[in-house]
Amino acid sequence: MSTPRLFHAALIGCGSYGAEHAKFLSACSGVKLHAVADIAADRAEGFAAKYGAGYATTDLARIWADPEIDAVWISTQHHTHAPLAEAAAAAGKNFFLEKPLALTLADCDRIVAAVERSGVIAAVGFKLRFFPAVMVAKRFLTAPSLTAAHVIDDHWPSDFWANDPVQGGGNVLSQGCHITDTVLHLHAAPPVRVYAAGGNRYHPTRDIVDTAAITLTFADGAVANLSIGDVGVPPHASKFALQTSDGTRSLSLYNRLNSLMTREGGKITEHPAWPENGAAVIDQPFIEAVTNGGPSPVTVQSARRTTAVVIAALESIKTGRVVDLTAAPYAAAIACPA
Ligand SMILES: NC(=O)c1ccc[n+]([C@@H]2O[C@H](COP(=O)([O-])OP(=O)(O)OC[C@H]3O[C@@H](n4cnc5c(N)ncnc54)[C@H](O)[C@@H]3O)[C@@H](O)[C@H]2O)c1
Repeated sequence: MSTPRLFHAALIGCGSYGAEHAKFLSACSGVKLHAVADIAADRAEGFAAKYGAGYATTDLARIWADPEIDAVWISTQHHTHAPLAEAAAAAGKNFFLEKPLALTLADCDRIVAAVERSGVIAAVGFKLRFFPAVMVAKRFLTAPSLTAAHVIDDHWPSDFWANDPVQGGGNVLSQGCHITDTVLHLHAAPPVRVYAAGGNRYHPTRDIVDTAAITLTFADGAVANLSIGDVGVPPHASKFALQTSDGTRSLSLYNRLNSLMTREGGKITEHPAWPENGAAVIDQPFIEAVTNGGPSPVTVQSARRTTAVVIAALESIKTGRVVDLTAAPYAAAIACPA
């Protein structure tokens, strides 16, 4: 009896979150971590040794030309997402790309166009959609009216690359996109308007927004408030939290969105906390999608929509104006299905 062929994965970006993917891919049954790549040879070689990859390289042409590879994970700085995604698509490689999709609308459009042209299966790292508590919450309350959500972290070092305006865009874009994506995922209608206030409170050497209060209006009249910043983790609610109500039911997600309380007819249910499961929560559905020929668990179109909302919020902070998401340059990104 022949052994079934292993799923061959390659990883580009042997850094801190690349390690989460490498850990999962090297331990997952049916998967072989076939190759690892980085611009720094020592990082790629260190990953190959630690996670048992078939080979390490600094030459991405080798990855693009390798017919054994079923999918490539891209876990690099944000300004590299568009060129690497384009290269993957041009090589006909299915790819998983870390969040945010990119730093500009133009780069988001480049990625979406490359995927649509090539027909590869591509997914983006908005993993919170697959947290069990979030999935239960979405089933419990299908059309929120009013949501309050946050991602509030401890201070990021000013010299952290993610605080670099060119490479990272700052924490509001870099991880604010996670909670924005969760709010868009839970709401029933598309967002139509965004107003935001905020600025730079802690990183005067960086041209970034580090603190933001964002108000979203949805097409069905629902509204949401998002607080994002690296101002100090709230001790009770935790770094990621979200509360929402639909007029009849309400719920609270807390403990980094791993715990859930629901309330209906005056009855409160406290669900047992789910364990947080690293990158597995999104890597597993992506592998299944590639194996089955789709659909993607988090499409590049939906990741563009989320990223566009954060970019619009940053524009609102800069101009002091409400941004109409149904008009150019946001309309195309927002019109995409979730
Ligand atoms: N989903 C999550 O919860 C989560 C958490 C942390 C980070 N991330 C995301 O993961 C990505 C990587 O972040 P990180 O913290 O691991 O960064 P990092 O700096 O630790 O690692 C990035 C690695 O990519 C390599 N690299 C950069 N450009 C490259 C290129 N062109 N070709 C090959 N290698 C290249 C760098 O040398 C580095 O080793 C980012 O998109 C980040 O937002 C996601």
